[in-house]
Amino acid sequence: MRLSDTFLEDLRSRVDIESVISPYVNLRRRGKNLVGLCPFHNEKTPSFTVYPETESFYCFGCGAGGDIVTFMRRIENLDYLEAVKMLAERAGMSLPEDGFDDSMAKQRTKVLEANRAAAKFFHAQLFSERGREALDYFLNRGLKVETIRHFGLGYAPNDWQELKNHLNKMGFDDVLLESANLLRRSDKNGRVRYYDNFRNRIMFPIIDLRGNVIAFGGRVMDDSKPKYINTSDTLVYKKSNGVFALNFAKNGNDGKLIVAEGYMDVIALHQAGFTNAIACLGTALTKEQANLLSRYAKEVLISYDSDEAGQKATERAIGIFSSTGLEVRVLRLSGGKDPDEIIKKYGPQRFRDIIEGAANDTEYRILRARDGLDLSSDDGKLKFLSHVADILAELSSPIEVDIYASRLSRELDVDKTAVMTQVKYRRDNYVRRRKAEREREQQKKLMEGSLSKNTERTSNLRAAKAEETIIASLMRNPDFYPKIKNEIAVDDFITALNKRIFTVVLERVSQGNSAEPFFLSSAFTPDEMDEVTRLFRQSSQMRNTVEECLDCIKILKMEKNRPGDIKASELSNDDFAKLFRQNTDKG
Ligand code: CTP
Ligand code: MN
Repeated sequence: MRLSDTFLEDLRSRVDIESVISPYVNLRRRGKNLVGLCPFHNEKTPSFTVYPETESFYCFGCGAGGDIVTFMRRIENLDYLEAVKMLAERAGMSLPEDGFDDSMAKQRTKVLEANRAAAKFFHAQLFSERGREALDYFLNRGLKVETIRHFGLGYAPNDWQELKNHLNKMGFDDVLLESANLLRRSDKNGRVRYYDNFRNRIMFPIIDLRGNVIAFGGRVMDDSKPKYINTSDTLVYKKSNGVFALNFAKNGNDGKLIVAEGYMDVIALHQAGFTNAIACLGTALTKEQANLLSRYAKEVLISYDSDEAGQKATERAIGIFSSTGLEVRVLRLSGGKDPDEIIKKYGPQRFRDIIEGAANDTEYRILRARDGLDLSSDDGKLKFLSHVADILAELSSPIEVDIYASRLSRELDVDKTAVMTQVKYRRDNYVRRRKAEREREQQKKLMEGSLSKNTERTSNLRAAKAEETIIASLMRNPDFYPKIKNEIAVDDFITALNKRIFTVVLERVSQGNSAEPFFLSSAFTPDEMDEVTRLFRQSSQMRNTVEECLDCIKILKMEKNRPGDIKASELSNDDFAKLFRQNTDKG
């Protein structure tokens, strides 16, 4: 299936890229272009650039690039057609009816239906006779029945086939259920069997902002391992984007979200009236999750476990949240290991007090610097001040630095100017170091083309560069096609990714169609589009002549025929044997 060029052309002219990107990125004008902090990686200085002229974007920091459709796919985790659909709807266009293949969208809908049916099943089990132990587990942990219903919690029975049988009867087949990660497959001696993924676990459904059940977390009821089994990535779920309870917390949160570590923390918080609590799922907080939160709140209150692991995660989270533009405060949980325990032990008021006294990120880091130091000794004081100076040196506001310096000098009984001198000295160093770092990185990227997503590039640099020039000049100058078509074939290409890009470009230009990235994006993943975009951008610095193109074809053919460094993995057994003989003959 393919959308017509006329339709795509129309879409592109009606949707302007700035309005697509600006809800996700704070853009500032720089000349003809716009720049902002990249939503796809962590950065402090903007290298994400939007080019209204070519309706494209490119990040000089991480190499992400593409057109409006690629941007939507990436940021919203959509497939190609869904992204087109979303943009078209916004532009008031309807999609062409004929031959519109939405098999992927249909597949996703089926997975969502299966998930919903599974959630209902688990929930019903919880209130059945065999769910007794699980229900008791929840009640013993202080949950009310009302809360259990609100979150749709459930129980997966201790059986290998229960869910499978239930869902099979409803018409969901095993292949679909495996793709939803509800079933697993074993393949022993050629005998394929499907069995339930979640067994004898209490179940937490994860619900997206549209109310779809997109995944599950399942916890054991004792100390056995693994403690949790979670749905892996599926058509409808990407763990690195997953946020638990945002469906509830997104509304009426006063611009603030409490970020906890675990499911039980979030549920306990909601039950106690803190309905703005969420948990970011997966092992480590990601930029995508932070971005998502920043659309529903201005400030996050980090409320991770009070153990060392939780505090490490807090330090990391501060960086990621701040780089998204969120204000950050950190809750100091004392008297309990996590929000769940604190509320159970002391009640909601205690937690409200903790929020009231929450430190901002700098205060939190200063508090942490104090840990384990004896401030009554000179040595302890010195170490503490030196660490604090490091922290203050990174602040951009001089007023803020001044306030903390005053506070510290009073508290530690040291001269304020001494503190300020320390900070200034480090600040100069810090600024110099960061500048040098940035320059080194840029240099390195330029030298090695390390932003390329073509993994074979470095080991075939000469060939890859020739390939890129051929592709780029054809993308920019489709009229070269008749003049080069007899000189080059797809099989002359060496690196697999370039070969694929060339195939697609060739198909389009040979039919007289445009091969600009925008028209290619249905054929590539967002990651591959980074490379397509990079190649296209490169063409603006080339000579763009047929001769240049033919020269590169010559180079590529030479590279292809160059003996000696053929990769062993590409050789047949016979070839390999021959090569081996040659080498031993020589020796
Ligand atoms: N987690 C996970 N897999 C694990 C351990 C943890 O996915 N093996 C995730 C879960 O989302 C969990 C969160 O990390 O909720 C926090 O982990 P932990 O503190 O161990 O679990 P809690 O949910 O707090 O469990 P509980 O309070 O019930 O012990
Ligand atoms: Mn916990």
